[in-house]
Amino acid sequence: MALRIVDTKYYPKYHIASPGGWINDPNGFCCYKGKYHLFYQYHPHSAEWGPMHWGHVVSEDLIHWNHLPIALAPTEDYDREGCFSGSAFEKDGKLYLIYTGNNRDGQVQSIAESEDGVHFQKHPEIIIPPPEGEQIHRRDFRDPKVWQNDDKYYMVVGSRTEDELLGQILLFESEDLISWKFKNIMARAEGNQGFMWECPNFANIEGRDILIISPQGIKRERNKYMNVFQSGYFIGKVDYEKGIYIHGDFELLDYGFDFYAPQITETADGRTIMIGWADMWYNIMPEHDDGWAGMMTLPREIHVKNGKVFTTPIKELQKLRTSEKSYNDLKFYKPMKFDGVSGKTGELILDIDLTETTEFEIYLRTSKDKTQKTVLSYNKALELFKINRNESGAGGDGERECPVSAADKMKLHIFLDRSLVEIFINDGEKVMTSRIYPRTDSTDIVFVPKEGGFKIDSLKFYELGVAIPQPVVD
Ligand code: FRU
Repeated sequence: MALRIVDTKYYPKYHIASPGGWINDPNGFCCYKGKYHLFYQYHPHSAEWGPMHWGHVVSEDLIHWNHLPIALAPTEDYDREGCFSGSAFEKDGKLYLIYTGNNRDGQVQSIAESEDGVHFQKHPEIIIPPPEGEQIHRRDFRDPKVWQNDDKYYMVVGSRTEDELLGQILLFESEDLISWKFKNIMARAEGNQGFMWECPNFANIEGRDILIISPQGIKRERNKYMNVFQSGYFIGKVDYEKGIYIHGDFELLDYGFDFYAPQITETADGRTIMIGWADMWYNIMPEHDDGWAGMMTLPREIHVKNGKVFTTPIKELQKLRTSEKSYNDLKFYKPMKFDGVSGKTGELILDIDLTETTEFEIYLRTSKDKTQKTVLSYNKALELFKINRNESGAGGDGERECPVSAADKMKLHIFLDRSLVEIFINDGEKVMTSRIYPRTDSTDIVFVPKEGGFKIDSLKFYELGVAIPQPVVD
């Protein structure tokens, strides 16, 4: 039995969240027989991390999700200490889950198979141990992601060097998805890029090979890399013959407090989309006292623009809108609230004119006396967008910042969902995801001008419907 949820004050309306107990990384994101499946690292028995299972949700439209039974539980010698992260792959009508078996002796990759996408059969005879090699750590060997290129299957696995100093990604090759040959160390940390690379993901988008990694051990550089671990990407090209990856710089995928271990998949109509864990290791999660811990980001579509990855909320989300408030050509010099623009949940879209407005603040989830608020701000001269949660309520405090170049216009697309805020800046050029835990009566949104007033070409606010089963609390 999963842990019971006893209070829903922080529980999201339209983001995938724990059905009771603890969740972390998304796993096995895929489209199988016309439905979208997302699995996740799950500890059903407490709101703390523990022996990992794979929880499971399914959706027909990528918006409305339903819970399915637990797909994998730690039952075998090789996964006794947990069914760790991994990916899914469809072949000959069957769905394969390729995951890490964590056991007392270390980590191996293993496979489970399903004909209906709900019930999974493990294959204890298929165990992929860490490859022998001077430079490969024997115990940190996890989080496989499988894809197909021409007529072969490939798998990347997170790893580190034996001296524990550098994160790296191992590449494997297979003809049949069952027997795997180690190809090479495909990429390795250079400089301040961490001592362990977790959760690799891979996609070819418009001819470019994108490798996503979640490195541990990147050191803070001024106000960058302030979270304990990071998630980011490289753009480059895989040389499948040699098994190496030539790539550009490491770039973050999200600049907020809470984003980790994203998984990507392709939609039926060919878009590459991504879901991340909207939390961060060791952050305070007050929902823990309510019988659950952890949630996912919205699905985000990945594009490559000007040599960088942009991520935007998928267009299907528009179907969740239940009412719209719209204001145009605003210019004001003192803090303003707008009728119908408030709430614990909702979607806010702003087109801001930055020709005269060079600095502004927006307070989300604000109490009537303004003592409780989550402060977003932009300073054009400093070219910095910030989120500050010192007065957000329960949970952790602090500030995160994100570089946004000065321009004449800025577009903000913000999703609020009870204990989460996702901010998309300039059509997904930058994104900031953060958990916040305000009181339920802190619902105002306040627009605060600085010098030059606040000029907003267009302000839209949408109320959004329920898309996730809501826990019943009695
Ligand atoms: C990343 C991670 C993975 C591992 C999983 C265990 O958050 O540490 O590397 O497979 O979580 O739950």
